[in-house]
Amino acid sequence: MKNTERLAVETTGNNMGSYEETYQSFDWSQVEKAFTWSQTGKVNAAYEAIDRHAESGKQDRIALMYSDPNRNETYTFKEMKEKSNQFGNVLRRIGIKKGDRVFIFMPRTPELYFSFLGTIKIGAIVGPLFEAFMEVAVKDRLENSEAVALVTTPALLERVPVDELPHLKHIIIVGTPEETPEGYYNFAEEMQKSSTELEIEWVNREDPMLMHYTSGSTGKPKGVLHVHNAMIQHYQTGKWVLDLQDGDIYWCTADPGWVTGTSYGIFAPWLNGVTNVIRGGRFNPDDWYQTLAKNKVTVWYSAPTSFRMLMAAGDEVVKKYDLSSVRHILSVGEPLNPEVVRWGKQVYGKRIHDTWWMTETGGILIANYPQMEIKPGSMGRPFPGVQAAIIDDEGNELPPYHMGNLAIKTPWPSMMRQIWKNPEKYQEYFRIPGWYISGDSAYKDEDGYFWFEGRLDDVINTSGERVGPFEVESKLVEHPAVAEAGVIGKPDPVRGQIIKAFVALRAGYHASDELKEEIRMFVKTGLAAHAAPREIEFKDKLPKTRSGKIMRRVLKAWELGLPTGDLSTMED
Ligand code: WTA
Repeated sequence: MKNTERLAVETTGNNMGSYEETYQSFDWSQVEKAFTWSQTGKVNAAYEAIDRHAESGKQDRIALMYSDPNRNETYTFKEMKEKSNQFGNVLRRIGIKKGDRVFIFMPRTPELYFSFLGTIKIGAIVGPLFEAFMEVAVKDRLENSEAVALVTTPALLERVPVDELPHLKHIIIVGTPEETPEGYYNFAEEMQKSSTELEIEWVNREDPMLMHYTSGSTGKPKGVLHVHNAMIQHYQTGKWVLDLQDGDIYWCTADPGWVTGTSYGIFAPWLNGVTNVIRGGRFNPDDWYQTLAKNKVTVWYSAPTSFRMLMAAGDEVVKKYDLSSVRHILSVGEPLNPEVVRWGKQVYGKRIHDTWWMTETGGILIANYPQMEIKPGSMGRPFPGVQAAIIDDEGNELPPYHMGNLAIKTPWPSMMRQIWKNPEKYQEYFRIPGWYISGDSAYKDEDGYFWFEGRLDDVINTSGERVGPFEVESKLVEHPAVAEAGVIGKPDPVRGQIIKAFVALRAGYHASDELKEEIRMFVKTGLAAHAAPREIEFKDKLPKTRSGKIMRRVLKAWELGLPTGDLSTMED
């Protein structure tokens, strides 16, 4: 099990100094001095991310560098301040108040970022939704959060069941006036009417700011609530893990519908005052390399699936582009294979730095730092101010090389503060006193590096996107042909896992490839493209407990050809 492979430090010049010394001496209160609230006691994360720079000499620096196949735009910190102020005024005029939930359901365009920041500026809670969500997924989230306002586009509006959402009072359409239905607001028209000056809502550090829905192994997606205080972690991990420095041009490839796209696609770069590259549109190796080359990106944060797809596209593509601006590369979301790290070193001449964290943790907790040796396959070591450990189910810390619960000593600045309207679910994470239980299993080596092993629950991680089997199963059984469904993650060389569904058909339906495709499309168009099973297998009967619960554990064992283990709770 001992790993001897090491990638030496490339000394890119980093902000942190010696990891060991900093880990010993650092304490979070040192970070607060970077923000204005240390003087006033009141805070607003959007102000700290944008206005603070616009007011202190960086007004003309490019904050947002946007491109998609149809648009190429840049916005300075001053312009971002004005646009987000205008949007804050739009919401105020409509009557949105502090604490109200404002959701954003649209593709990555500059308007998404203006809306996101403007919402936070007036103290409302912002909820960005991934653009691939279909009706059920959108409805669940808007219903549970009781969102009062929604910013969306004409195309995506078709997936919003407005009549079934009594709390949803205001809809703002990013599109032409002709595309804006009667009674709805048109984004551009409302912005035009609004002042670029805004009275910011100064809030307490612990006031809510942002909601991300994420999946567990049971039940509907849960609303993870983050507060303004999270910015401490976003700022400091941006400095030490992303290694952000003055003049950097940073690109995070994640969508703000997922936590990486907000913590590290919005807050970390802007709190550190660097230029943030946003690329709309879909993944394509040439476009991605072009984005790096054309914008002269210096720091690049992406995900294992993307690196694996780039690797599959071949080394020749890389040679077509001048990637010499790239200084620092990072990854998050799923296990980063050692061979990908080796390949990255070979083709980019750079190490890929793995980082570990979750929607619930709000920010990076374990990472590989520029000034540390990398052991390919390891997630790295805890961030200063963070205590990570491997513990057993009673809370005892386990010695090196023992597999157990990956757990974090509570609290840390960006820790979630609530599962929306579900205190029981929240408590489950803290069932061992003093610890946050991640649900991941891992081990630690003798140098304190952490190694990921797997999930301890049934949550699926497909291309870095977290999918709850229950959501997919619920959708599957809505199909008239489906009597029962059980869903698992099946190992896949590129996507990490793919979604596989086992389905028992109702009487009168017959297994066929056409029916498989029909069922697949049913989930794809009803829930979300990334949640549709890539594989469906028909079975006469699914393994269930006597109380009728589908035993996913047995399905997994079938799939992998492993022993099924204890079947004493299974029905006859
Ligand atoms: C997994 C994404 C292995 C893990 C920011 C975790 C990882 C879940 C890594 C959270 C990593 C994240 N190596 N697995 N470096 N980073 N994961 O909430 O299982 O979308 O619990 O947050 O992704 O996914 P989430």
